[in-house]
Amino acid sequence: SAPEKIILADGAALANAAAARLITELVDAQAARGQAHIVLTGGSNGGALLKAVAASPARDVVDWTRVDLWWGDERFLPAGDAERNETQAREYLLDALPLEPKRVHVMAPSDGTYGDDVDAAAAAYAAELEAAGNPAFDVLMLGVGPDGHVASLFPGHPGYAVTSGTVIAVRESPKPPPVRISLTLGAIGNARQVWLLAGGEGKAEAVAGALGDVDLPAGAVRGTERTLWLLDRAAASKL
Ligand code: 6PG
Repeated sequence: SAPEKIILADGAALANAAAARLITELVDAQAARGQAHIVLTGGSNGGALLKAVAASPARDVVDWTRVDLWWGDERFLPAGDAERNETQAREYLLDALPLEPKRVHVMAPSDGTYGDDVDAAAAAYAAELEAAGNPAFDVLMLGVGPDGHVASLFPGHPGYAVTSGTVIAVRESPKPPPVRISLTLGAIGNARQVWLLAGGEGKAEAVAGALGDVDLPAGAVRGTERTLWLLDRAAASKL
């Protein structure tokens, strides 16, 4: 679906508006289908959204035992590393929720079942998605890098060009840490709704390029029902 955008006053408004919207979408998905699948993102905007959900009394209307959590990408680091998206998500929100552990689908750490074999870890995540029936994610959230990257798909980097499969191992990432796991564009495109969260002046050029005619990962992602940019005024300032 064609990209739409909502522009909020500042980063706090962006986080609060996205959190309220996420809670509503989870309620709607559970009403329609009994369960909900969401895909989390790292980054400061994704983190602020999780904290806003944690702080919202409305979060209790969601049946968290019937929410499947997935990740769009992960840094291939040891379990519990502060730089892992999983670690941040647990700290900001997940530890406070009555989640079903088997529905929390983390991408493997570099000291887990697959050791430092990132290819095996990526393949295992693809298998986990397949075992769940490659669900159409209700909401898939993405942060946007100043270079226009989303998940661990970077402009001009091989992962962005991958056209098959759902999960890839990424090496020599332009942004540290170099080794990562990421959903592919194809897997992202299986989401009903894709939300791109961008706040701050540093994102203005990437946002304008992606919504204009620059070939950037952030501009290439689409949800089947909705593609929604959630921006603050600074990030939208070059549109
Ligand atoms: C990473 C980051 C990255 C992030 C974007 C947006 O793994 O390097 O998680 O992908 O999501 O750069 O980050 P901010 O929300 O902090 O601007």
